[in-house]
Formats: sequence, C-alpha cells, structure tokens
Amino acid sequence: MKYDHRISDRVRQIKKSAIHEMTRLSREIEDVAFLSWAKPTSDTPEHIKEAAIAAIRGGFAGGYSQSSGLLELREEIAKKLVRDNHIPANPAQIVVTVGAIEGLAATVMALIDPGDEVILPSPTYSTHIRQVLIASGIPVLVPTIESDRFILDIKGIKEAITPRTKAILYCSPSNPTGTVFSEKQLRQLAEIALEHDLMVITDEAYEYFVYDGHKHFSIASIPEMMDYTVSCFTFTKTYAMTGWRIGYLHADEALIPQITKAHIPFAICAPVVSQHAALAALQGPQDCVEMFKAHYLATRDLMCRRLDRLSSIFAYYKPGGSYLMFPRILSEKGRMDSTTFCQQLLREARVSTTPGIAFGPTGEGHLRLSFCVPEEMINKAFDRMETYFG
Ligand SMILES: Cc1ncc(COP(=O)(O)O)c(C=O)c1O
Repeated sequence: MKYDHRISDRVRQIKKSAIHEMTRLSREIEDVAFLSWAKPTSDTPEHIKEAAIAAIRGGFAGGYSQSSGLLELREEIAKKLVRDNHIPANPAQIVVTVGAIEGLAATVMALIDPGDEVILPSPTYSTHIRQVLIASGIPVLVPTIESDRFILDIKGIKEAITPRTKAILYCSPSNPTGTVFSEKQLRQLAEIALEHDLMVITDEAYEYFVYDGHKHFSIASIPEMMDYTVSCFTFTKTYAMTGWRIGYLHADEALIPQITKAHIPFAICAPVVSQHAALAALQGPQDCVEMFKAHYLATRDLMCRRLDRLSSIFAYYKPGGSYLMFPRILSEKGRMDSTTFCQQLLREARVSTTPGIAFGPTGEGHLRLSFCVPEEMINKAFDRMETYFG
C-alpha cells in the first residue's frame, strides 16, 4: 500500500472489518435480503425529532456544551441509572458521549497502556477488540461456553489473568450471541475483578431488549464495584437513534476527569442537537421502547421458526436478549470458513449475513443474523435460503 510506511503500527495491525466488507459486497448485488445490520430499522420516534428541531430553531444547538454534556441531560441520565440500573448515580459521574462507541473508546484510552491485557469474553463485538488494539493494548479472548448458550466461562477468565491484565470488557446482552449474562455470573465476575484489582468496562447497549424472563443486570449496581466499573450506554438501540450518535458512560467521580481527557481530543463534546433529542427521549413517553421490544420478540420467534426448517444447515440457541443471534453452520464448508460461506450466500442466494469470524476466532463456523428488520425481510431471506439449500 502506498502509505504503508507512514501508517502507525497501531492502525496497521487492524484488519479490514468483515462487517463493512459484507456491506460493500451487498451493494454490488440487486434486491438483497438484509440480515447483516445490527441497526434498528425503525425510525426515531416523532417527539424526539420534534425536540431536536425545536432546539435548532431556538438557537440551542449551535455551540458546544460542557465536554461532559448538558447538565440537564446528565441529571435525567442519573435518574434513569438509579431507576433502571440500580446504580446510585449523580451528574458528576456521567459523561455524555458520541454513542456508546466513543464512550468505550475514551475509557479504553484512559485505562490501557501499551502492552496491557484486556480480557474479552468471546465471540464479541469486533469494535471492542479494535478499541483495545488502537490503544496498543492486547485483547485476550476467552471463549464463552457455547454448549451452555454462550454463558461466561468464569474459570477460563480466572485462568487468563496475568500480571499485565488491566481490565475485563464485555457486552451484555451480547452482540453477536444475544446471551444475557446472568446476575449470578456477573457477581462471580465482580469477585474476580475485586480480587485481582481489575477494572470492568461494560457495554450495555441492548439493556432494554431482554426476553423470556431474562433480566439485564448492571455490574456497577454491586456497591463494591462502583469504583471498579465504567458502564457504557447508548440511545442508539433503545430509541432507534443510530445516526444521532449519542450515548453516555458512568464511572466513579474521581475517574471522570481522566476519561474526559481522552474524550475531548476525539469529540470535544457529543453533538448538542442530539443531546437535546436525548433529553426528550428520557423525559418523554417510553411506550416506543416497549413497542420496539415487542417487535423484536416477534421477529426473533419468526426467525427461530424459520431456522427450525433449516435444521440440517444451522444449529442455534434462541437468544435471550439483543436482536441478534449466532447460529452454528453445520455444513462442512461453513464450519471451516464462515467468510466464504456468507459471501456465497450473498452472491448465490442474495441474502446478506455476517460471517462469525468477524467476532473473533471463536466465532468461526457461525454466522450472525439480525432480527431488527421487518418480518417480510426475514421471510424473504429464509424463502431464498430454503430454495438455495434445497
Ligand atoms: C454491542 C454494541 N455496542 C455498541 C454499538 C454501537 O453503539 P453506538 O451507536 O451507541 O455507538 C453497537 C452497534 O451495533 C453494538 O452492537
């Protein structure tokens, strides 16, 4: 590559994203059935859009806010954290960020030195792995237990700890598996963190989308973990606000100025118009969240029913949360190379999915399917796959 010698080692080591590659390939094919995007297809609710328009018209959105975000918004976020996450929070413990992603990136930058190891239960969201790499940290992928619905391998995590381990980073409900880590397991993880003096960084993007009696548990709600946890959240999934780029993090007050030092060079502050929209999201009616959840529950069940008809091709666990699932590919070819399998499915059946390898080596032999799409999209994709696999 022309600029190879100019590119930092940090960036050069990062491989092209398989997710973006599939998106690029999908654009070359007409009338694709998309099951590859983890982005809500619903539009942002009207009252949120109206609040943003009013903020623009009122002249409230043209400047920067405090780098940690509008105080009024942080006050609402604190109330939400107390009410829904059982985290005793106040506005001084909150930074409003450019989506959960920038909150996670700023946190990793603030905590990780070159050579520090970060444990990630895997398969996991590939962006987390890249965030550790870009901070010159070392991602240590500890496989989850697939035979038990991708739960945490607590023993495996313990065994992976070395003197260089600095943090554990996980997302629950999980992207890509949809597993909701139980309170019992997260309490065991907390014990490990406390015993070994490790920080825990959480990505709770799908916190409201849990089904079948599964409960989302925030590890920072354990009183001893308050000083050891940075919890990252987002408006993206809860209120279908992907493009608004707005999220937030919660941490001990003493840590906030350090994380803010990493947040400012990347963002200065989160988009102010989006902060006003987020305020409306928290203060307004919450029935949209219930509606999204009911939709995802229906599309999950439809996808499972359709997968049952392809039981010689895929084996799956019904996900307890998120709007993603991670079937194992049973055919010989797919087991070895999920990238070729998914690319063939795209070219030959016009169905776009994400190869499991995008989520770390333990994801190989799987593919990720998103059910945050209309039912017709699921039916179209599975009709095509049934014909294709014959
Ligand atoms: C686990 C997880 N975290 C974060 C994000 C992105 O969040 P945001 O848009 O708030 O940056 C995604 C998007 O797919 C995700 O799956």
